[in-house]
Amino acid sequence: MDVRPADDAAIATAAQRLARGGLVALPTETVYGLAADATNGRAVAAIFEMKGRPHFNPLIVHLPDVAAAQRHGQLDHRALTLANAFWPGPLTMVVKRRAESPLCDLVSAGLDTVALRVPAHPVARALLAACALPLAAPSANPSGYLSPTTAAHVAEGFGEADLLVLDGGPCTVGLESTVVDLSSHSVAGLLRAGGVSAEAIAACIGAVIPADAGAAIRAPGMLPSHYAPHHPVRLDVTTVRPDEAVLGFGANMPPGGAISRNLSPSGDLREAAANLFAMLHELDQPGITAIAVVPIPGGGLGPAIRDRLARAATGH
Ligand code: TXA
Ligand code: MG
Repeated sequence: MDVRPADDAAIATAAQRLARGGLVALPTETVYGLAADATNGRAVAAIFEMKGRPHFNPLIVHLPDVAAAQRHGQLDHRALTLANAFWPGPLTMVVKRRAESPLCDLVSAGLDTVALRVPAHPVARALLAACALPLAAPSANPSGYLSPTTAAHVAEGFGEADLLVLDGGPCTVGLESTVVDLSSHSVAGLLRAGGVSAEAIAACIGAVIPADAGAAIRAPGMLPSHYAPHHPVRLDVTTVRPDEAVLGFGANMPPGGAISRNLSPSGDLREAAANLFAMLHELDQPGITAIAVVPIPGGGLGPAIRDRLARAATGH
């Protein structure tokens, strides 16, 4: 494990590592990603190995711009409209893969579709420019555990691994990207709620249907046990036991508990999203019996935050 501030020298070293088939943990505006050259099947396999994933989920391919995305996937008018509105940013689009794309098969788990994203974080963009490779990157955490929003979280998760971590500070969005399925001509499907709200997407391209049972199979990252801390999570609490850790929101901060955090004292859902994983990490301490979470309101990023909390709660 080699954690370095993401300066020009570290980014150049990271680009060389990626070109040789190595792995690099990089900051994005959503969460830290565990990146490899998406055209190199062995390098992509090393991602699954390091994460200890029980099966090969398709991974998101990160690119510098729309033109690069079009070399790998077929972006229809809806995809181009969304790219124009939300790229660079926390939106991933699943589209038909181009036959001539050099991406390895493993990155899309053998599917004829591919998930593409143009990230906004300056370090991610600098690394994409320096290595000139499409980068496969799932969240940089051991499979099934909380997503990392700081370099320290990545280091905790992968203690002794042979990994260069570019430290670009805490992630500003703090939730994974929204995943939208545009791979068929039927209405767009929301495969994962995330950093861009479903309302904002619908405002651009009309109706978006929520993830259904079929979509859950198509998006294996939606497994209920994703994002689980070590301790049980209790949702929608109104009272707290003395041996529990408390996660509050706005004015709703129940007294008691061994340790507590407030996702956003002012009740701002964006601030709450940015704090969610970091605070779950902080509360997931030895000695507590559970993490007790107050109700999170709907609207905007509320559904995405509640989705992550529900998964954290069912992971035990
Ligand atoms: O914010 C993010 O999206 C982060 C950062 C690092 O970019 N990445 C991330 O990747 O969360 P990952 O691998 O943990 O999640 C990828 C999601 C999963 O839900 C996966 O099933 C879905 O995208 N996905 C990827 N390719 C797909 C495909 N071809 N069809 C359907 N779903 C796909
Ligand atoms: Mg993940």
